[in-house]
Amino acid sequence: MKYLIGIDIGTSATKTVLFDEAFQVVASSSQEYPMYQPHNGWAEQRAEDWRDAVLKTIKDVVSTSGVQGGDISGVGLSGQMHGLVMLDEQNEVIRPSIIWCDQRTAKECEEITQKVGAQRLIEITANPALTGFTASKILWVRNNEPENYAKCRHILLPKDYIRFILTGEYATEVSDASGMQLLDVPKRQWSAEVLEKLDIDPSLLAKVYESPEVTGAILPEVAKETGLSEKTVVVGGAGDNAAAAVGTGIVQDGRAFTTIGTSGVVYAHSSKVTIDPKGRVHTFCCAVPGCWHVMGVTQGAGLSLKWFRDQFCQDYVEQAKKQGANVYDLMGKDAAGVPVGSHKLIYLPYLMGERTPHLDPDCRGVFFGLSAIHTKKDMIRAVMEGVSFSLKNCADILDGMGVTIDEMMACGGGGTSPVWRQMLADLYGCDVKTIVSQEGPALGVAILAAVGAGLYSDVPAACAKAVKTDQSCPPIPENQREYPKYYEIYNDLYGCLKEEYKKLAGI
Ligand code: XUL
Repeated sequence: MKYLIGIDIGTSATKTVLFDEAFQVVASSSQEYPMYQPHNGWAEQRAEDWRDAVLKTIKDVVSTSGVQGGDISGVGLSGQMHGLVMLDEQNEVIRPSIIWCDQRTAKECEEITQKVGAQRLIEITANPALTGFTASKILWVRNNEPENYAKCRHILLPKDYIRFILTGEYATEVSDASGMQLLDVPKRQWSAEVLEKLDIDPSLLAKVYESPEVTGAILPEVAKETGLSEKTVVVGGAGDNAAAAVGTGIVQDGRAFTTIGTSGVVYAHSSKVTIDPKGRVHTFCCAVPGCWHVMGVTQGAGLSLKWFRDQFCQDYVEQAKKQGANVYDLMGKDAAGVPVGSHKLIYLPYLMGERTPHLDPDCRGVFFGLSAIHTKKDMIRAVMEGVSFSLKNCADILDGMGVTIDEMMACGGGGTSPVWRQMLADLYGCDVKTIVSQEGPALGVAILAAVGAGLYSDVPAACAKAVKTDQSCPPIPENQREYPKYYEIYNDLYGCLKEEYKKLAGI
C-alpha cells in the first residue's frame, strides 16, 4: 500500500493529513499559530511558525501512523495564497510575511495600475491591482523598507517557502502564482511585460509548474527529522481554493463550491479564461492542467465569527469545554433558533476591508439595526447571515458573467455548519451539498500528489476515486421569501457608507 500527505498551511493553523492510496485518512495533525496586526488593516505572520508547524505535524502523522517513510509516495502543499516571503542570500527570512488579508498597499496598487495600465493589467493578470495580491506587497517593501528589499534574493508564497524547506527548490505552481499579479494568467507563465514595467527582477521569482507536476524530493536532513523518505516527491500543489476544488471534485464546468474558512469564497471551474471586466471576481489558473477558475472572495467570513467568539463569547467557550463540544456547534445551534433576519439586525462583514464585490480596503464591519431587544444569539445569527449575503454577492456576479453553476458544494470550517449551509441554500436558491471527506485542501493536494507520483493517470480520475457526495441541503421556500427583504438593505448599506469609510480611514 502506498500513502500520500496533504499539507494545508492555513491562516489559523497548519493541518497535515496522511491518506492511503484510496484516500482514506490514516492520521492527521494540526498546529495553530498567531496572526499579528501591528496596525488597523495590517496582517502578518511568521514564516518560521509555518515551518515549525509543518515539520511537527508531518512528524506527528508519520510517527502515530507507523507508516514507513519509503511507502509515502508524495506530498502535496496547499495554503493561504498571496503572502509575501522574502529570503536573503543565506535563505534567511528577511521580515514577517505580509499576508493575504493585509490592506496597507492602496498606494502601491495605484502605482501598479499607472505603470502597467488598467486594461493591460486585466488582460495579462486577469485581475485589477489588488491590495491582497503579492505584487503590491513587494512594492510596499521596496517603497517603505528599501534596506529589506535590497537584501532580497528570493520571493516565495507561503506554501512555496515550505517547499523550499522540504526540498531546497525554489518553485511554485500556476494556481498560487496567479494570485501574485505577476503571472500571465491566460499563458500560465510569468509576464515579462509586467515584471519589466514594475522593475521586478525575474530572477527573484520561483520556477512555475503545473499543480500535479513533481517539483523536487525530500532533503536528506528533512527525511531524517520527519520520518519521510528522500524518495518522497513533492508536487506543485495549489493555493487553498484551487486545492479545495480538487478535494471537493470541482474539476469540470458547471461545478462550484462555497468555502467558509477565514475568508469566504465562491469558486467555479472553467475550461476557458473568463474575466470580469470590472475586476470584482478573480480569474486564476486552476490545479487541473490547462483549466482556470473564477472566484469571488469575501475577506472576513469565518474570521467574523471567530472575532465575535473571541471578543464576546467566553460563556460559549466555557460551556463547550465543559461539554467536550465544539464552540461553533453551540453558537450555530443558538443561531438556528433565531428567525431569518436576526430580528431585524444586519451585519456587514468588512472587518478586513472587502474584495468582492466592493474592492475597498477602507470599509469596515457594521451591525445595522441594533436595538435593546437584541441578544447575543441574534448577533451570532446576524454575523452568519451577513457573511452569507456577501457570498451571495459573489454568486450573483459569477451568474452575471454567464458562468453556469449546476452543483454547489460547501466546504471549510463554516461549511460543516448545518445552519450556515441552510442560509446559503436559501439565498442561492439551490441545493448545497457536502462531501464525505472533511479534508478539503489537504485532500485536494494529496490527490495532486497521487497523480504526480504516478498512482493515478490524471486529476479527474483521482477525484472520481477520492470524492464522495454526502448530504444535500435544499432551500426552504418560506426562508427564500424572507431573505430578499434583508439582502436588499444589506446591499444598499455599503453605498450609504462608502464615503464615511474613506473619512474614517483618513483620520
Ligand atoms: C484568495 C484568498 C484567500 C486566502 C486565504 O484569493 O486571499 O482565500 O487564500 O485563505
